[in-house]
Amino acid sequence: MAAEHLVIFTPSGKRGHFASGTPILTAARQLGVDLDSVCGGRGICSKCQVSPGYGEFSKHGVSVKEGALSPWNAVEERYKSIRGMLDGRRLGCQATVQGDVVIDVPPESQVHKQVVRKRAEAREIHMDPATRLFFVEVAEPDMDEPSGDIERLIDALREQWQLEDVTADLAVLPHLQKALRKGKWQVTCAVHRPRADGAAQILHVWPGFYDAPIFGLAVDLGSTTIAAHLCNLQTGEVVASSGVMNPQIRFGEDLMSRVSYAMMNPGGDVEMTSVVREAMNALVQQLTTEALVAPDSIFEIVLVANPVMHHLFLGIDPVELGQSPFALAIADSIDMRAADVGLRLHPNARGYILPCIAGHVGADAAAVTLSESPHLSEDLVLVVDVGTNAEIQLGNKHKLLACSSPTGPAFEGAQISSGQRAAPGAIERVEIDPVTKEPRFRVIGSDIWSNDPAFVEATLSSGVTGICGSGIIEAVAEMRMAGLVDASGLIGSAAQTGSDRCVVEGRTNSYVLHDARESGGALISVTNGDIRAIQLAKAALYAGAKLLMDKMGVSEVDRVILAGAFGAHISPKHAMVLGMIPDCEVAKVTSAGNAAGTGARIALLNIGQRREIETVVRQIQKVETAIEPKFQEHFVNASAIPNAVDPFSRLRAIAPLPDVSFNIKPGNEDGGRRRRRG
Ligand code: FES
Repeated sequence: MAAEHLVIFTPSGKRGHFASGTPILTAARQLGVDLDSVCGGRGICSKCQVSPGYGEFSKHGVSVKEGALSPWNAVEERYKSIRGMLDGRRLGCQATVQGDVVIDVPPESQVHKQVVRKRAEAREIHMDPATRLFFVEVAEPDMDEPSGDIERLIDALREQWQLEDVTADLAVLPHLQKALRKGKWQVTCAVHRPRADGAAQILHVWPGFYDAPIFGLAVDLGSTTIAAHLCNLQTGEVVASSGVMNPQIRFGEDLMSRVSYAMMNPGGDVEMTSVVREAMNALVQQLTTEALVAPDSIFEIVLVANPVMHHLFLGIDPVELGQSPFALAIADSIDMRAADVGLRLHPNARGYILPCIAGHVGADAAAVTLSESPHLSEDLVLVVDVGTNAEIQLGNKHKLLACSSPTGPAFEGAQISSGQRAAPGAIERVEIDPVTKEPRFRVIGSDIWSNDPAFVEATLSSGVTGICGSGIIEAVAEMRMAGLVDASGLIGSAAQTGSDRCVVEGRTNSYVLHDARESGGALISVTNGDIRAIQLAKAALYAGAKLLMDKMGVSEVDRVILAGAFGAHISPKHAMVLGMIPDCEVAKVTSAGNAAGTGARIALLNIGQRREIETVVRQIQKVETAIEPKFQEHFVNASAIPNAVDPFSRLRAIAPLPDVSFNIKPGNEDGGRRRRRG
């Protein structure tokens, strides 16, 4: 009997004894060590690369001698000379055990490698995609035992990769026989298995060993923008990210106006479905051109969207979502063929859509849950995805509640007199000196403040064109802290505030942030109408959060996470001065960026996470703001800045909230002072 040797794998620490001559790949499989292989140990794919360690390993109590592995062989030499391989590396399927040895499995050789996310506090993604490549040797046809090529391929997948219940798409068959013969009965299959223990489908067959990556798309289909990540399905790497405007905007800025468009215009829903699918295909073109890959190398798409976008994308009339009881056509997750929804990817590409939480809380909110994991949190966390409709979740590992609140497009710069979408030239940061009441600001595209002499030069190309969502929030909050706006949201006159930037505007006042009209530029003011629009939006958001706090039986939260592209740009302190979010330590308010997009990417790269979110969504308690009597009361109280009844004592300790009150009379009460210039 051959001698047994100790084999220790790092970083897993798994160890076992193996007979001389056992391939490292075999030892790894027997111990359950995560070592990749696409070719099944035939020395073709190089996915099984390992780094053997030599010398004393006192931690493991083992000494590894030269000769602990079989000598470098011709297969390894051929691979290294053609493709290159780091010095010291071996192919796990070629190197065999000859003595005690310590074997390190580098991250790129792990199937379930972790894709490190940028934010340290976020979970890493463990690779376990639904679509993977498998190299197989298929038995040749035999006249004495007639069987189809596909049956022998399926047998090979079962025998060589333990894949049960495999079927093939009909579209695979026309190419199958050529591929098998061209590959001399060796082929690589793309196999889709959406459930770890479920049936699998062959999506494509390549002759021989297919050595190129396959891709998947993670898409966040929003009412305003469609954002997507193109990911390598083997490494998890994001190879391109891009976004396009949702062309449905021409049918209505917000969700309800699109539902009304569908109600009022026969065929309107079909029209909106068609434009959004075309925009998705244009986005695919953009991403694949950027990454220099072919659209038919995309085998999977995971999509998240709010309920209205979800229905319109699937070709479902959203009219039921516009009226009580806000019934979804389908709430569960969806497995589908990408071609069935008009997407031009690989012809057999599959799609997965996360489950919707409720009629107003969609698959995008489910994706935010997956990304931010409030359901695993020890402390009580409020997650707010700020958009034209805020989707709000409150909970911890014991209980999770969700609702949505109609904030409208004011936070995106719409309905604001000088408002614009976030683009170069838009004011995004504002500070107002509480003594002089003079403002300074920064625009998107430049880091220089407006009171810096270099500002004009730095913003020459963009100019100062308007104010975006985060800019208006800062402007109103700064005005409140500088005593230019009272708690009811009224802007004082020049006489009341001592600032000649406060000018009469009809029956109220406005505050001039920037006036470049003399040089042909823009006048950018914050009007009382703007403040009213922001008050309505922020009151809706706060009232939704407050309703969830009532249901949870709490008066404060431990943490706040602001999700959404807009959330990434909001200053937590200013959001709190405005009373958008509950009083909380400013340091405990964080931004999650495009958490819905991240959640889509997690679901794309890990099928276990799809099952997890399906389970969590079933447990989330939904709260319907439209029928909750308390919502209106919270809304009215939250119209004040920051709030008519909630004390905001933590905020008051760090931010001045002057106790001013402006009672503007109709007409001009400050001596005929009109618009200022300069
Ligand atoms: Fe493919 Fe080793 S398993 S080269």
